[in-house]
Amino acid sequence: METSQMKKILSLILIMFVSSVFASAGSPDAGKTKSGTCVACHGDDGNSLNPAWPKLAGQYSDYLSKQLFEYRKGPDGDRNDPTMYGMVANLSDEDIHDLSSFYATQKPTIGNARSDLVELGARIYLGGNISSGVTACVACHGPKGLGNNLAGFPKVSGQHAQYINDQLRAFKEGKRANDSAGMMRMISARMSDAEIEAVSSYIEGLH
Ligand code: HEC
Ligand code: HEC
Repeated sequence: METSQMKKILSLILIMFVSSVFASAGSPDAGKTKSGTCVACHGDDGNSLNPAWPKLAGQYSDYLSKQLFEYRKGPDGDRNDPTMYGMVANLSDEDIHDLSSFYATQKPTIGNARSDLVELGARIYLGGNISSGVTACVACHGPKGLGNNLAGFPKVSGQHAQYINDQLRAFKEGKRANDSAGMMRMISARMSDAEIEAVSSYIEGLH
């Protein structure tokens, strides 16, 4: 191949790479405009009031996009939810990146752990359960529940206890199967109902 042709191809690849980076960054302003259909459940700023609807405020944009792409696959996907499928079925990739970057820039609200559950919740979150093989949540979600974006570990800090509880059950029953290498399915399968309830409450007050 001629050098000039080679250079053209290389610069094309570079342009494709640069534009894909910009495309996946998303625009928070465009996302805010597009969030009109989400407000009823997730709130103006991504802090939902109903505890069954997740807070999105301050969550990593990459994690949010990943969830929206998975909902968009519908019944064939690893996170099938009829409500969210209806909300995202007609969104473009760009819409998804814009919406995710908007919610990522919002400030999350924090709740309170129930005083009767906080002791068991803290024990599981920080130490796991050695006898049943539950890994401590802190190992991946961090001491303050801030997760790790590059590793794909979401923030959980301040999330509604009911939503956390629902997700742990969904992982446990295999209804939610979009966790890489099955990490969350493996962990939740070893948890008792009481441990799930307590750790969910602990997370609601974690910050
Ligand atoms: C009718 C209520 C409703 C509307 C409207 C709605 N959602 Fe949701 N959303 C939910 C529920 C319920 C869940 C949890 C579903 C599950 O269990 O997976 C959810 C989950 C999510 C999640 C996953 C959060 C996480 O922590 O994993 C994201 C992201 C999301 N919604 C974004 C949106 C966006 C963006 C819109 C608007 C285009 C929207 N939602 C509209 C109810 C709603
Ligand atoms: C080995 C790492 C690891 C450990 C340990 C871990 N998690 Fe996770 N967790 C993940 C990953 C990865 C995901 C994201 C899955 C995805 O991409 O949808 C996740 C997702 C979650 C979610 C869903 C968040 C949302 O917004 O929907 C909850 C809730 C959660 N974890 C709770 C826990 C709890 C409670 C523990 C401890 C009992 C725990 N995790 C331990 C890796 C881990």
